[in-house]
Amino acid sequence: MAESAKLLIEGKEYEFPVIEGSEKEKAIDISSLRAKTGYITIDEGFKNTGSTTSSITFLDGEEGILRYRGYSIEDLADKADFLGVAYLLIYGELPNQEQYDNFVGKITKHTMVNEDMRKIFDGFPVNAHPMGIMSSLVSAMSGFYPDSFDEKSPDTTDLHIIRLLAKFPTIATWCYKKSQGHPINYPKNNLDYCSNFLQMMFALPVEDYKIDPVVSAAINKLLILHADHEQNCSTSTVRLVGSSKANIYSSISAGISALWGPLHGGANQEVIEMLEEIKADGGNVQKYIDKAKDKSSGFRLFGFGHRVYKNFDPRAKIIKKAADDVLAKLGVNDPVLDIARGLEEAALKDDYFVSRKLYPNVDFYSGIIYRALGIPTNMFTVMFAIGRLPGWIAQWLEMRDQNQPIGRPRQIYTGPEVRDFVPLEKR
Ligand code: ACO
Repeated sequence: MAESAKLLIEGKEYEFPVIEGSEKEKAIDISSLRAKTGYITIDEGFKNTGSTTSSITFLDGEEGILRYRGYSIEDLADKADFLGVAYLLIYGELPNQEQYDNFVGKITKHTMVNEDMRKIFDGFPVNAHPMGIMSSLVSAMSGFYPDSFDEKSPDTTDLHIIRLLAKFPTIATWCYKKSQGHPINYPKNNLDYCSNFLQMMFALPVEDYKIDPVVSAAINKLLILHADHEQNCSTSTVRLVGSSKANIYSSISAGISALWGPLHGGANQEVIEMLEEIKADGGNVQKYIDKAKDKSSGFRLFGFGHRVYKNFDPRAKIIKKAADDVLAKLGVNDPVLDIARGLEEAALKDDYFVSRKLYPNVDFYSGIIYRALGIPTNMFTVMFAIGRLPGWIAQWLEMRDQNQPIGRPRQIYTGPEVRDFVPLEKR
């Protein structure tokens, strides 16, 4: 007999089915709870709530496992390229040569962005945060590429997916160029995805730009590591917005906004700013460990802790090693890396961090690599977004194909009970 869970409320027993995933994770299916009992569940921050079943990414926080469609993150980061991983996430299988060439060929053809988008972009002040610009421009894409949002039109979702993957890095590099007061670069379609991104970021009209394969390979690895992470805050946002049948651009624009927050993707910028501050303050890591332990300070060690990884973040392990390799290959000696190592060492010996299972997360070392590659701090979260885009797309598609009902959580109301309206003169 299939397993079930029993719940005793006000002396009455109710039974709910238990569902099991392919990796033996278990969940109690409470979809009939309110109808049967009149009760709902409260779970702030959804720490115990599964919003969906999904066949995209498997993550075991206790064991530090992360797999995309069954392939380990270690293998993919070592052997795959980012667009191959994007294909895997979106279509479910690693592409064969023909599928890969076709996919990459289509993305390459769509790298240019409608020139009228530039008019919107030009209106942003020079110091606007790139994540705000990204979110706005991706939302604006719905106006420039509106075909088939109407359910009755032929489905052109695949074309929207290609456009998003192709144009996203182009728009991202506009933000950087603006902050530097430099002209934007057009894509060069004879380059691969990561090299093209680097060319658009760093080439100047006055000199030749040579792409460093070490830098391009490091970007490829970082993008793969960020490509999906099941139902995190930004992905859940994408699925929730999409569940109202909002178009894919609007849904992903909302995901970008969610990722921007310092408790999510914005942490990579905060980490470097924190490490810089520690360095400027004399490099006393213990002072900052003590501050993070003092709840009244309101300070947290950015890059430490994770909602699901309570042992180690497998991405952080790969990135830590990549940071060492990249810095050595590029001959960069960054004193901030020493601060980061010192902070990690001190935190991992401290009972506060050990007992709360607070380990360095993916963002702790990624900023150090980005810095070494010449990417400015306010672009770090944009790098995360470029990496996460295929994951958002895959999850949006899965949500649509599962016919997920509109996401609409309930609440327990705690405000005043019914009262009579008081006219203004009597208040
Ligand atoms: N520094 C100091 N204390 C911390 C930290 C930290 N970075 N993270 C958690 N804690 C403490 C909390 O104060 C809490 O202590 P308490 O039990 O005494 O009250 C305990 O550890 C549990 O913390 P929660 O906030 O309940 O854990 P949650 O799972 O909700 O939060 C989060 C996870 C948001 C990532 C948190 O660890 C954090 O704020 N980290 C810093 C920001 C960061 O690096 N974010 C990036 C996450 S990775 C990503 O988004 C890609």
